[in-house]
Amino acid sequence: MEGKRLGVAFVGAGFAARFHVRGWVGVRNADIVAIYSRTEKRARELAAYAESLGVGKPKVYTDIHDMLSDPNVNAVWILAPNYVRVDIVRAIAEEAEQGRGNLVGVACEKPLARNVKEAREMIRLVEKAGLLHGYLENQVFMPSVMRGKEVVWKYGAKYSGRPYLARAAEEHGGPHASWFWRPTLSGGGVLLDMMCHSLEASRYMLWDPEKGKDSIKPRRIWADVASLKWTRREYIERLKQAYGVDYSTEPAEDYATAVVVYEDEEGNILLTETHTSWSFIGAGLRLTFEVLGPEYSLWINTLQPELFTFFSRNVKIPPSEEFVEKQNADQGLMPVIPDEAVTYGYQAEDRYMVEAFLKGQQPDENWHDGLLIVQLMMLAYMSAEKKQKLSFDPALVEDYVPPVQKGAWNPKAPLL
Ligand SMILES: NC(=O)c1ccc[n+]([C@@H]2O[C@H](COP(=O)([O-])OP(=O)(O)OC[C@H]3O[C@@H](n4cnc5c(N)ncnc54)[C@H](OP(=O)(O)O)[C@@H]3O)[C@@H](O)[C@H]2O)c1
Repeated sequence: MEGKRLGVAFVGAGFAARFHVRGWVGVRNADIVAIYSRTEKRARELAAYAESLGVGKPKVYTDIHDMLSDPNVNAVWILAPNYVRVDIVRAIAEEAEQGRGNLVGVACEKPLARNVKEAREMIRLVEKAGLLHGYLENQVFMPSVMRGKEVVWKYGAKYSGRPYLARAAEEHGGPHASWFWRPTLSGGGVLLDMMCHSLEASRYMLWDPEKGKDSIKPRRIWADVASLKWTRREYIERLKQAYGVDYSTEPAEDYATAVVVYEDEEGNILLTETHTSWSFIGAGLRLTFEVLGPEYSLWINTLQPELFTFFSRNVKIPPSEEFVEKQNADQGLMPVIPDEAVTYGYQAEDRYMVEAFLKGQQPDENWHDGLLIVQLMMLAYMSAEKKQKLSFDPALVEDYVPPVQKGAWNPKAPLL
């Protein structure tokens, strides 16, 4: 398709889809041509927003097959909940194999799947249909993360040796839609929802840009999970009222921590430390990263942007997410991220995926990376369940479904 424009269809018109639309103003050679959602109104609102930004005039669909056979659709962005991944990919693969539309590629939001079996089925379906696939892990496209990696490798690693420790954390006060709070639907708690980001971003920092991702191999992993906040009585009530879910019978972890040991081609031991929580109250979503090497270090904190505002107690601003995602306050000293779709990496990832699909190339960040991250997350759940350090042996988690995904997790068990 080189020299042409890519027509992109969104499956899902929720929170993540809105971020992608916002970021699309910096994406070249592609238009958002279609939006599918179960609820027509939501798809229409997002389509109007896309049109207002000049990033396409999307046609609205409530039947996914109709959308996939639209000849203007060349690529699909899967932005719907985790529990409908396999069905959506099956529908895409069916249409592609029958050749009714003009599909070349599919990009999928994180986490790729809820468990290894689902991830493998998605890869099988999409590759059998001859489609390119991209994994939408926005954090490895964050300008600070990409530039940070470039600088530490260009100078720190070159003059003093490779980095040996990468830390990544993602924390906020809890997700925005009820399905995230139903682990039997979503697949888990914060480990599945957010550690996927931190695991991939910390791995990204450690591989040598000249040698590629495969130059480091995961060897061991250990992890812990806990419910620190949302199984307290008053917060169980709050979840019932806000989302109609019952954390007294179907809880999930709101805290997770993991260490992954990697080994490089020269036998050097490298570590990643990842922490995630839905029990953090600060101004809003906080993403932090650190990289340590022999004579250098790097750190990033998205709650320390260049813009802060101060509103006195006499200013009463209604609750919003105007300043920062998952905002917890509207007064006092507040960080404001000028363009979150850029800062969090949505814009750069979408631009990258579009360029790869137009060239007919498999994106470097693809579903095999998504599968590796699912394997690491399943091993993390297993390590917490067994209270053991585990070897990185994918066979251990080929058919593994964590207790939390089965609705059988006991929040008191892991740490005692
Ligand atoms: N990269 C990131 O940092 C990031 C951030 C947020 C989310 N995500 C990921 O993006 C995905 C979507 O999350 P979200 O926060 O956007 O969720 P959301 O706000 O709940 O929106 C979900 C969208 O999918 C549609 N949908 C719901 N159930 C469906 C079903 N059974 N079949 C087909 N469509 C369905 C919804 O339709 P209705 O119109 O009927 O509601 C809605 O349009 C998730 O996998 C999540 O992990 C990534």
